[in-house]
Amino acid sequence: MKNLLKSFRSSPKFSIKWDNYFNIYENFFKKFVNKKITFVEIGVGNGGSLFMWKKFFGPKAKIIGVELNPNAKKLQKFGFNIEIGDQSDPNFWKKFYRKFGKIDILLDDGGHRNIQQITTFMESYEHIKPNGMIIIEDTHTSFMKKKGFKNPSDYSFINFSKLIVESLHRRNPSLNKKPNKLSDRIESIFYYDSIVSINFGSKKISKAKLLKNNSKLKEFIIDYRHKGSFINTLSKFEKLFGKLDENTIIYKIIRKCFHRNFFITLNEKKRIRNYKKMINY
Ligand SMILES: C[S@@+](CC[C@H](N)C(=O)[O-])C[C@H]1O[C@@H](n2cnc3c(N)ncnc32)[C@H](O)[C@@H]1O
Repeated sequence: MKNLLKSFRSSPKFSIKWDNYFNIYENFFKKFVNKKITFVEIGVGNGGSLFMWKKFFGPKAKIIGVELNPNAKKLQKFGFNIEIGDQSDPNFWKKFYRKFGKIDILLDDGGHRNIQQITTFMESYEHIKPNGMIIIEDTHTSFMKKKGFKNPSDYSFINFSKLIVESLHRRNPSLNKKPNKLSDRIESIFYYDSIVSINFGSKKISKAKLLKNNSKLKEFIIDYRHKGSFINTLSKFEKLFGKLDENTIIYKIIRKCFHRNFFITLNEKKRIRNYKKMINY
């Protein structure tokens, strides 16, 4: 049995977690084992997971639990830091980081509502150490209507996370978009069943640069990306106007339109809709 699962099973307090989480966490967290880290879990419940993390990470780790229920304070006697507060309150987080400073790992297993997950992420990302991570657990709630989650909706955490995905892509100069505060900090995002992990880089991540191995090796090649449809359209225009030289305005306009993908055909859209149906959308 893997170490994390062993620690879970032997925890002296009750805990409940989906079975697929253990392998994922074991892989994410192995680099932090026996290190002097600060690990924060939102949602203490009965305290079972706090004992599991303590055993897994070892005695050097500082384990902090964040919980709405004041009874959780009782667990402090076992060596945990317990902060009572509401994860959806930005002021709670401001005080929290003033008190504890930067942290290595934030695991959100709290109330799982959109505003709780999104506030927690937005109020925390500037307080994560290099190589640290924010993990949001039970993200299936982004697709749950029942139990008050009222999803899927434009305001779900998963929909919000698409903005984080876009922020990473702003590092690519082809987009010509101004990088935002997330662009140079977040290295990658991993999506699993019900877990999203946002992974921070070891240092500021700069914009991507285009590398060429050796310009002398470049031969004249035609980019075939738009060949089929471009040639068809060109020949229709040539029937009207006669042979079009590459330097004519009409030729240039047609080429630009294809380059900018103006002509996504109805058939292409239909095929994509059909593919979506094949996976039940
Ligand atoms: C699923 S339980 C946590 C279980 C625990 N992490 C474990 O694995 O054993 C969720 C906890 O989040 C707490 N919670 C719910 N909403 C919260 C909020 N807005 N802020 C902080 N904690 C919250 C609940 O009181 C509950 O104890």
